[in-house]
Amino acid sequence: MNTQVVSLKEHIPHRSRALAQKDCGHIVIEDVEITFGKGVSASQAVKRTSLDIRPGEFVCILGPSGCGKSTLLNSIAGYVTPSSGTVTVDGNAVTGPGPDRGMVFQQYSLFPWKTIRDNIAFGPRVAGRSNVECSSIANTFLEMVGLSKFADKYPAELSGGMQQRVGIARALANYPSVLLMDEPFGALDAQTRLMMQENLLSLWSEFGITVVFVTHDVDEAIFLADRVLVMSASPGSIIDDLHVTLQRPRSRPWRRAPSLWSSRRSVSSRSAPRASRPSNSRTGDPCFVPSSVSVWCVFPSPRAPRRSMA
Ligand SMILES: Nc1ncnc2c1ncn2[C@@H]1O[C@H](COP(=O)(O)OP(=O)(O)OP(=O)(O)O)[C@@H](O)[C@H]1O
Ligand SMILES: [Mg+2]
Repeated sequence: MNTQVVSLKEHIPHRSRALAQKDCGHIVIEDVEITFGKGVSASQAVKRTSLDIRPGEFVCILGPSGCGKSTLLNSIAGYVTPSSGTVTVDGNAVTGPGPDRGMVFQQYSLFPWKTIRDNIAFGPRVAGRSNVECSSIANTFLEMVGLSKFADKYPAELSGGMQQRVGIARALANYPSVLLMDEPFGALDAQTRLMMQENLLSLWSEFGITVVFVTHDVDEAIFLADRVLVMSASPGSIIDDLHVTLQRPRSRPWRRAPSLWSSRRSVSSRSAPRASRPSNSRTGDPCFVPSSVSVWCVFPSPRAPRRSMA
């Protein structure tokens, strides 16, 4: 598999550079509550939540299964309307999906009947761009994710990691100011996942767009994020907001740095169960407790002020 992602120095379209310079991608969530259903069947998915995500920030949301991570992300994407409160991006109220917000899902969700090139060109085509423009945008993003040679293949002919790169390219082809990612690497094998994380960081650093990334994986969150938001069990709310101040750029050797392990301990201690928290007898690291329904459990704790990790 081609693991190379080309430098975007010459490829970043002017609009994207302008977006980064104008500090686009400012997400503000104010007093948002999300409840599904009505009356006796009503079920609260997200408790009252407020958040301010700055332009260009890389934010990871961590939490147990069913705590409302996807629901919160979908409220930014415009797929879910909050029961109360507001979500704005760059001051504009989110009332539905829009090209300013690209979304990448865990399942690759490509159009199986379209070639890779046509999948990537889909957004620009819907936006009314000419054939020449669509083709040029598709070529740029194909090269960017290292898949130019596969332009005329269909999704079923690509590996999972390659399909997910197409998903990212398709989301970026609209030149969004915000990239929303819902466990995008969850279905990939460990090695491909590491490669995808590095590729994503390289894209993010060159594009300068805001990324909100949902994951269950503490290591993934620390490796990627400027900031890790930890959600409580259902109905979810943000119970911790941790700044990862570890140096960038981060790459594979960086994962062995002692500073990473101290950050990992810090996030783990905030996200592992309070009571009877088990630990690794050799390292003293807290272990996640698997449950029948979730990868790991998070129990609520009092809201703590934002803290830094270095
Ligand atoms: N469209 C919907 N209608 C009704 N309930 C929903 C809907 N979407 C989500 N829920 C409920 O909201 C809660 C939060 O779901 P959500 O998918 O946001 O959790 P999650 O944290 O993303 O979980 P996972 O890690 O398993 O993906 C769950 O109880 C779920 O059943
Ligand atoms: Mg989810």
